[in-house]
Amino acid sequence: MKVDLSGQVVVVTGAGRGIGKEIASVAAGAGATSVLVARTAAQLDAAVAQIEQEGGKAWALPADLAEPEAAARVVAAVIERHGQIDVLVNNAATNYVANLVMAKDEGWRRLYELNVFAVMRLTQAAIKPMIRRKRGRIVNIGSVSGELGAAYNSAYASSKAAIDGFTRSVAKEVAKLGITVNSIRPWHVDTELVHEAMAARAKLFGKTAEDYIAMIIAESPQQRLITAREIAALAVFLMSEDARGITGQALNVCGGYAM
Ligand SMILES: NC(=O)c1ccc[n+]([C@@H]2O[C@H](COP(=O)([O-])OP(=O)(O)OC[C@H]3O[C@@H](n4cnc5c(N)ncnc54)[C@H](OP(=O)(O)O)[C@@H]3O)[C@@H](O)[C@H]2O)c1
Repeated sequence: MKVDLSGQVVVVTGAGRGIGKEIASVAAGAGATSVLVARTAAQLDAAVAQIEQEGGKAWALPADLAEPEAAARVVAAVIERHGQIDVLVNNAATNYVANLVMAKDEGWRRLYELNVFAVMRLTQAAIKPMIRRKRGRIVNIGSVSGELGAAYNSAYASSKAAIDGFTRSVAKEVAKLGITVNSIRPWHVDTELVHEAMAARAKLFGKTAEDYIAMIIAESPQQRLITAREIAALAVFLMSEDARGITGQALNVCGGYAM
């Protein structure tokens, strides 16, 4: 089976690297025009160039989604250029590794601004044109930590639990309108974010990032990290017409870590 997204416009946040870049690339490979959003224009341009080299269509739209006005600006720019938004992938997120005793309000606020408020604002802005067209797909990238918790990462894990609750709530609101809303919950994926988080955690305990990566691989039933490609493949299936019966779900891609 091949997913066909020809003529569709897919907006992916945090698409300059890692999982977001891979989702944008796989969606473009399925025929969509991918709109890549993140702060670092140079990374976006490189990702767009790679997609175009592979024969896909893509557009770089730099924005800092932690700024409250960014969501409306991003959606207006996409509508002006492409006339529609078929899919929104809320993927951009950040980490705040700290034990609870030392955690600061400011760290939590900075994380929640991107991981939760930006997701709410962008979904709110993008869902309006979807409601008018009575079609749309929203894919939120959560984390198994939202379900299982994560020591020294309570801001992050709780923000991802919020994403699951938000996903189910919005899914119920728009279920009759041809719009599906789901979240994907990865376990550790081999990206910069996981290496940065492990380095921060290692610093708390006088270990190295490599020690931590080895430890998490040892904890995995499949004895490996997940790949960005595996997350992208599920995201693109959720965008498809065949996935219209799947909504309000949180789908783990965790190599059996949570079962
Ligand atoms: N990697 C994992 O092990 C793992 C596991 C579970 C869940 N996840 C989730 O998967 C998603 C992607 O993770 P990843 O590992 O691919 O992350 P990553 O490599 O750190 O990439 C994050 C992306 O988000 C962008 N971004 C960060 N702050 C932003 C802001 N304020 N406004 C706009 N864009 C911003 C970054 O670009 P700029 O810095 O240029 O803005 C980058 O393109 C996240 O939701 C993460 O929580 C990851």
